Amino acid sequence: MIDLRLESVRRQATRVRSGGLEALAALVDPARAVLVCDLEVRRLHGAKFPPCPVIEVARGEEGKSFASYVSVMESFSKFTVDRGWTVVAVGGGAVLDLAGFAAATWLRGVDAVFVPSTLLAMVDASVGGKNGLDLGGRKNQVGAFRPPREVLVDVSLLDTLSDAEFVSGMAEALKHGVIEGGDHFAFLEGLGAGRRSGTPRPGGAALGELVGRSLACKARYVEADPFEELPAEAPLSRRVLNLGHTIGHALESAAGLRHGHAVAAGLASICRFQASRGAFPTGDAERIARLLASFGLPASVAEAAALAGSDDGPAFRSRVADALAADKKRDGSDVLVALPCAIGAVRVGRVELAELSRFVMEAP
Ligand SMILES: NC(=O)c1ccc[n+]([C@@H]2O[C@H](COP(=O)([O-])OP(=O)(O)OC[C@H]3O[C@@H](n4cnc5c(N)ncnc54)[C@H](O)[C@@H]3O)[C@@H](O)[C@H]2O)c1
Repeated sequence: MIDLRLESVRRQATRVRSGGLEALAALVDPARAVLVCDLEVRRLHGAKFPPCPVIEVARGEEGKSFASYVSVMESFSKFTVDRGWTVVAVGGGAVLDLAGFAAATWLRGVDAVFVPSTLLAMVDASVGGKNGLDLGGRKNQVGAFRPPREVLVDVSLLDTLSDAEFVSGMAEALKHGVIEGGDHFAFLEGLGAGRRSGTPRPGGAALGELVGRSLACKARYVEADPFEELPAEAPLSRRVLNLGHTIGHALESAAGLRHGHAVAAGLASICRFQASRGAFPTGDAERIARLLASFGLPASVAEAAALAGSDDGPAFRSRVADALAADKKRDGSDVLVALPCAIGAVRVGRVELAELSRFVMEAP
């Protein structure tokens, strides 16, 4: 009888550290590395790339198409990338998702090093091991879990990022603060107060701290639940990181909002939903809404509609409620939702879809 147990097959460690883009040359052997980026990031930061072949892909979601994936694989073939090579991705979440999937599938997997260049990619997409491609208009339909070997965080790359992209990444960073509470939330409120008094977006040490705190939060959940396999209700279930995303995704698809804007309105809304059931302090729900607003993010369904240029009437609300019904985490008449119970306490629980839809129809 054969009875084997292979424990460690799917695990791979990731080292995350700060350093300038120039430090890449010390992390990879340029003779055995290939770099994937989009043309804008190459134009802005290409002078600091190590001397290795560069594969340029389309910007944004267009880069996460199958056509783009095939062209990256053809380039790997042209450069005779072998198992000892490293795929370096420099870019936003879209480039990291594409290059991460290409690295995970080329020769059944080669090492990757990520240099995130947007705030969202720094605080979210660069850690966690998920990658993906879009298919048939649906995001991340194809993908794998394969973490990069290294993540190099160079916050100075954000100097060239537009305010709109920066603010979109802030939504995920603020979500991490609501999950963590305590010092982390207080730190973000301090940054928000600075903005209200006219200080532009955080820079220097404050920006480094913002990114570091977010990464520590995400890393804790990813370490405990690397493949999203823990029961949803477990305290460190990775699904806690979906806070704000249930209503957020519905707003994103119904209103066509940028992801971060939709998540912000979704975060404020799920806090108000919990408050309406007596399960979250009303004052804290408004505190979170004020924090989101201080970074220029929408903090209600109505503000999300206004930002999308939609008339906030029953037709808009019905479209959002219909999009909720299509949620991937729907289970019969229920949907699994990350539910805030307090700032610093989030759990995943079942909510009746009908109750959440009613709330969305009437919410601020
Ligand atoms: N794998 C994950 O865990 C994970 C998590 C969150 C999001 N994502 C994915 O990330 C993607 C969104 O990522 P994003 O918000 O970073 O957007 P993005 O990757 O689409 O980049 C946005 C734009 O910013 C530009 N850009 C990038 N860096 C720049 C810089 N330093 N200066 C100037 N311009 C720069 C890019 O050219 C692009 O036009 C989505 O596809 C989403 O599905 C993945």
